Amino acid sequence: MHSRPAELDVLSHLIDAEFPLVAVETHEEPRLLVLLRKLAAMRKRPLFAWSASEGLRRLDLNMDAFEEEAPAQAPVDALRRIRAHRAPAFYVLLDFHPYLDHPEVVRLLKDLAQDYGRVAHTLVLASHALSLPPELKRLAGRYELPMPDSRELEALVREEANRWSRGNAHAKVKTDSQTLGLLVRNLRGLSTSDARTLIRSAIVDDGAITEADLRALNRAKFELLDMEGVLSFEHETARFTEVGGLAALKTWLGQRAPVFHRETGTEGLDAPKGTLLVGVQGGGKSLAAKAVAGLFGAPLLRLDFGALYNKYHGESERNLRQSLKLAEQMAPCVLWMDEIEKGVSQDANDGGTSRRMLGSLLTWMAENNSVFVVATANDIHQLPPELIRKGRLDEIFFVDLPDSATRAEIFAIHLAKRGHQAGDFDCPVLAGLTEGFSGAEIEQAVVGARYAAVAAKRVLDMELLRGECQRTQPLSVVMAEPIAELRAWAKGRTVPAG
Ligand SMILES: Nc1ncnc2c1ncn2[C@@H]1O[C@H](COP(=O)(O)OP(=O)(O)O)[C@@H](O)[C@H]1O
Ligand SMILES: [Mg+2]
Repeated sequence: MHSRPAELDVLSHLIDAEFPLVAVETHEEPRLLVLLRKLAAMRKRPLFAWSASEGLRRLDLNMDAFEEEAPAQAPVDALRRIRAHRAPAFYVLLDFHPYLDHPEVVRLLKDLAQDYGRVAHTLVLASHALSLPPELKRLAGRYELPMPDSRELEALVREEANRWSRGNAHAKVKTDSQTLGLLVRNLRGLSTSDARTLIRSAIVDDGAITEADLRALNRAKFELLDMEGVLSFEHETARFTEVGGLAALKTWLGQRAPVFHRETGTEGLDAPKGTLLVGVQGGGKSLAAKAVAGLFGAPLLRLDFGALYNKYHGESERNLRQSLKLAEQMAPCVLWMDEIEKGVSQDANDGGTSRRMLGSLLTWMAENNSVFVVATANDIHQLPPELIRKGRLDEIFFVDLPDSATRAEIFAIHLAKRGHQAGDFDCPVLAGLTEGFSGAEIEQAVVGARYAAVAAKRVLDMELLRGECQRTQPLSVVMAEPIAELRAWAKGRTVPAG
């Protein structure tokens, strides 16, 4: 399939639908201008461009020699000049967005649009970001420059490889077909010029496209697609060897990893959508979410609902949709929604924003088949029932307080993590002392005992650890009732993670 004519098609449709204004948000002005030139030639209409630096000038012919008037520099003058043109034409207004809060500019645009029946001028507004005032919105169509598809991206890689080769005594760029396939897949969602930049930097360091390049590329890509805090790239993923217990969850994820990677033999299987981890606070849900990315060897993106609400008043939904789209562009990736209940709680008194957010999220989840979602929740009371319904996510796991064997494992993990030999300690005995402790509380006991050791100028030993465990009042004692309720709720609705 050729995408150039398709690009033109959409633009042509907008023209045929007689939209006097066409809004284009793009960072790829040159590519848009190429398209407009083609379109103007096909439609046999003149093409003009306006920019603050050059004023209004004709683009499709070299008219400098014929131009008797000075180019209209000021936006208002340019629009008046356009109004005076009697023959239908295309105009592209480059970076016109700063003038769209000027009443005279807006009125002139509206005049031009309403005059369309008389003189069919089409004005294309092209900026990196564009929000039209309401009085113009209804008169304007929106056009998006499509991103290059896999075939075009492959061609770009080939072009850049050849170019490197020419500059390096015709040495060949080293890579293998799997890495190359992943490279192209990971470039999806980027504009041609951004993709080219990233391909170039992947090749230039060593004349090879390797797995290390893919990791660097994912980071760079994320930065290009910046969502300012709402969606963040987590550099710290975890490994499941750092997570005690949760055996059922680990097995379940292990079965899905090859499908996630679309390994041979998994072609007929449905893409895994993700999972929701519900459970006691401090049970390792957030840690496990990070470990999923480690296990899948995929980038980890974190969606922060708090930032969605706080940073962009009135724009939360739009930003949610954009973040989800961005996550798709980063696919294959793991999208982590920590404490999701805080983002989409049912009874929030916010004028319906969170309900609409939930709606957008559910719609996306139903259609998503490229991003693996790991959501976590501590508070079931705030969890909307729609989210729990089958089909949105593949499975809901319940993360209970660790049993004795798991507690021993968690002790060993946190001792080892801090440079101790787990074998020097009797972890099963410690497990026996910590009935009702969460993973986080076990970690805190280890941390506290180490402080005590330093204060007493001795090496960490069982006695110090035992003392620390006995001093701790686990949350599960204070929270006995809510935890019992949580367990009752989880029965039948969820699968035990451990
Ligand atoms: N099962 C576990 N294995 C190892 N460490 C754990 C476990 N559960 C909790 N921890 C420790 O406690 C910290 C806090 O746990 P966290 O993942 O934030 O729990 P949750 O998200 O369920 O509230 C973790 O970063 C980890 O150091
Ligand atoms: Mg957490």
